[in-house]
Amino acid sequence: MNIANFHFEPNLTLAPMAGVTSAPFRLLCRRYGAGMSWSELVSSNALVMGGEKSQEKSHQLAWFSEEERPVALQIFGADPAIMREAASMMAETKPDAIDINMGCSVPKIARCGAGCILLRTPDLAQAVIAATVEGAARHGVPVTVKMRAGWDSQNITAPEVAKRAQDVGASAVSVHPRTAKQAFTGHSDWSVIRRVKEAVDIPVIGCGDIKNGADARQMLDETGCDAVMVGRAAQGNPFLFASIAQYLKDGTEAEEPYHQEKIDTALWHAQELSNLRGEHTAMNEMRRHAAWYTKGMPESSRLRDRLCRVSSLMELEDILAECLAIANQYAEASQAWALAHVN
Ligand SMILES: Cc1cc2nc3c(=O)[nH]c(=O)nc-3n(C[C@H](O)[C@H](O)[C@H](O)COP(=O)(O)O)c2cc1C
Repeated sequence: MNIANFHFEPNLTLAPMAGVTSAPFRLLCRRYGAGMSWSELVSSNALVMGGEKSQEKSHQLAWFSEEERPVALQIFGADPAIMREAASMMAETKPDAIDINMGCSVPKIARCGAGCILLRTPDLAQAVIAATVEGAARHGVPVTVKMRAGWDSQNITAPEVAKRAQDVGASAVSVHPRTAKQAFTGHSDWSVIRRVKEAVDIPVIGCGDIKNGADARQMLDETGCDAVMVGRAAQGNPFLFASIAQYLKDGTEAEEPYHQEKIDTALWHAQELSNLRGEHTAMNEMRRHAAWYTKGMPESSRLRDRLCRVSSLMELEDILAECLAIANQYAEASQAWALAHVN
């Protein structure tokens, strides 16, 4: 599948998730089979007008490695002039695309008029997209837009805003078809993805409630979207991309990874995140990841309490080693039980 001047396959991507899709996690997902990924959201105000510290933090959030490509960097903002400059600054680092967030409705973002609230004012949304396209074009980088269905069920504006995005030069749109009012409740309404697909000629990426290969196949077939994007189901589960990619290829399900692979992956993730952001920040973020990686492993709920308070890499390694030892004991016990009952 192509977006502007770059190609990716399979047509399966990792969704942007603040506090989750850091560079190491994105790389894991790419290695397991995601065709591309989106960064965590970065504030255009912080990039353009922030002090030294907030600029440094923004650039750290937007850092990517060459191996991740294709990768899109997501920015948010509501002031066209600032978005133009922010896009230009981001584009200088040569990501494959700059993505505009029109999906987030948390108060911190909505208060500055950015994110999903822009879907209530299609004229302003269009001006923001046009300016971002201009800024990114200075360095030859295409722009994509990620949006929800609309602000509320009375105002499903995604098809209109997607068309306007195309008219001012956006190269693709992705759609999570819940309204801002819905937040993450209820179901995503995939018929909105189909309506967006009918409204534009640029590629449309569908998102919302994909948990396995069958869901991905169904979304592609029902909506006609060009690619699918996976968010929450990938948390602690980069392996899911191998499974979905296999299903899309030949309709078969992949085996669950062994506990050892899950723990090794969690440790690699923690080490890389520490290298990137420092041990303290990395451990704050890894608490949730570690709980996700070990979910469903024997006695993991007992260890979760300790994982949620972990403060050093060494402590994390110890708890994960304990987790693995318990899982191996259970596996040995169940093997012994099976042998005894076969004979
Ligand atoms: C923890 C979390 C953080 C998110 N952060 C972002 C973000 O920074 N930018 C964005 O466009 N969407 C963000 N989203 C929305 C996801 O990209 C995605 O659209 C949504 O979770 C629906 O997909 P899913 O059902 O596969 O999770 C976030 C979602 C979650 C759960």
